[in-house]
Amino acid sequence: MQTHRHEVVIVGAGGAGLMAALYASRGGADVAVVSKLYPTRSHTGAALGGIGAALGNLEEDSPLWHAYDTVKGGDYLADQDAARVLAYEAVDAVIELEHMGLPYDRTDAGRISQRRFGGHTSNFGEKPVRRACHSADRTGHMILQTLYQQCIKNNVRFFDEYHVIDLLVNEGRCAGVTAVSLATGEMHVFQAKATMFATGGWGRVWRITSNAHSLTGDGAAVVYRRGIPMQDMEFFQFHPTGLYGLGVLLTEGIRGEGGVLINGKGQRFMEKYAPRIKDLASRDVISRSIYLELRDGLGINGKDYVYLDIRPETVNRYLAEAGETRRIDNALVIKALAETLDLCRTYAGVDPLTEPMPIQPTAHYAMGGIPTNIDTEVVLDENWTVFPGLYAAGEVACVSCHGANRLGTNSLVDLVVFGRRGGMVMADYVKQADWVALPKDPTAEIEAEFKRLRTAKGKTRVAQLRQRMQATMMDNVGVFREGKNIATAVNDVQELYHSYRHDLSIDDRGYKFNTDLLEAWELGNLLELAHVTAVSAEARTESRGAHSREDYPNRDDATWMVHTLGLRCNDTPFPDEALKVELNHKKAVDTSLATEDPRFLPKERVY
Ligand code: FUM
Repeated sequence: MQTHRHEVVIVGAGGAGLMAALYASRGGADVAVVSKLYPTRSHTGAALGGIGAALGNLEEDSPLWHAYDTVKGGDYLADQDAARVLAYEAVDAVIELEHMGLPYDRTDAGRISQRRFGGHTSNFGEKPVRRACHSADRTGHMILQTLYQQCIKNNVRFFDEYHVIDLLVNEGRCAGVTAVSLATGEMHVFQAKATMFATGGWGRVWRITSNAHSLTGDGAAVVYRRGIPMQDMEFFQFHPTGLYGLGVLLTEGIRGEGGVLINGKGQRFMEKYAPRIKDLASRDVISRSIYLELRDGLGINGKDYVYLDIRPETVNRYLAEAGETRRIDNALVIKALAETLDLCRTYAGVDPLTEPMPIQPTAHYAMGGIPTNIDTEVVLDENWTVFPGLYAAGEVACVSCHGANRLGTNSLVDLVVFGRRGGMVMADYVKQADWVALPKDPTAEIEAEFKRLRTAKGKTRVAQLRQRMQATMMDNVGVFREGKNIATAVNDVQELYHSYRHDLSIDDRGYKFNTDLLEAWELGNLLELAHVTAVSAEARTESRGAHSREDYPNRDDATWMVHTLGLRCNDTPFPDEALKVELNHKKAVDTSLATEDPRFLPKERVY
């Protein structure tokens, strides 16, 4: 075992981790970033269409309208202090990225170009607004490259391909993390005064997902096992436009440029579900609409997909019908949606310039996660008790700026805004905080668990268990849910967990680059998160945002304007018996914007 000591240790090298690292290092801290991937392979690179900020470069806009859309899009569950921070700090963060060298697309006047995205409106829902700042449809990729370069320039220390597997806690404070080196299989302890998790989401819980294979929720599961509750896990967003059969993301920017959704009868069906903003309704609404079309047998050729059409002749017809003067042509599609063309041609053999794209909803984004306050400090309960030395930002965190459903582009905003805040807060914290002693024998428990996995001699393979988990979660805890189906998923996941503990088989018993072992480890993380997700979904007896219960179709503000907190209550981090979670903890939603402006109070959704 090797030990490293850095004042700030950041787990994960996506947008949030890099922004936090940059700001903590600028604040004078000695910073290390530990990541299971090479940083520029982080999943931020898959965020395509844009980063939202009310710059008003093409039409009038305001951060207050952005905050309003964020709260409304989140079906009023967002903590409004966090939504306010997100929307107001977005403007400065986006311009700061430009100054760091991010190559945004430009307007004719040379300003940052902006496009429409679902749910983003001007004047409190009056009409769609161009708010998504973009770099073609590779915005996340550009953010990642820009921030990585800045971190290198600022002497941030990177530990690439180190997989974090445990949280170190001593006397109620965070003391750092344990990681395993992919190259050697050796355990490394990272002692820190401040530790931040910025490890992204867990879309791999579901069968069809836009998330990379690496999105296995390791950070969330690691802290959950050590007593940190998971907040609002029932809210997992399905992005409406995943490439059929694969789930690969096709950006909402396609609809922002004018693309339309078409059913098997050739109808633009969003006219029926959201007559006013149609294909630019929020993602939860569009994903449900697609499922309803499919249920009515209105998929393409009766199959379970619909079309997304960006062919200029189709788009221009609808633009003309809507009385808009704007028109698109092939040159615009090639420039603004280059990645889309590439993805469709490569993975589906479809050329979007001449054919519509086959799409289906795809598991995309966790609104829930590690509870934090707006300074990224991890909180333990409904009283906002801070766990000293532990921070979280980005998708793994639940600062709850997104409430029950995130608007497109707001994930990239979340990364840079809260990553930056976290970096500054940690730099200040480590100036006055003492080192926390490492717990006695810090790697004993995790080494025992890795030994168990490495020597597993059962009959069930990791891939079999993973596929069964993904199938039950897709069927029972997907876009539409019902109590009895969710209960089936809870049972299925418990059975799978039992096999995971008692009947697992792996082939590679070595140490170097043992991806067989690490996939087994990741499956354990996915099962933990699938379980708490299903239990939380079963408990929430209402429909709100991305959580749509067919047996409870209405939003129930009187009972459910609260966050769920799922606390794992097994006696040990690696139990042989069933997983246990206690869901009694709730915390009040912050409605500070609503106290200033009644438009922020919950109301019926009208599209
Ligand atoms: O559709 C997209 O480009 C995805 C962006 C997001 O999830 O914010």
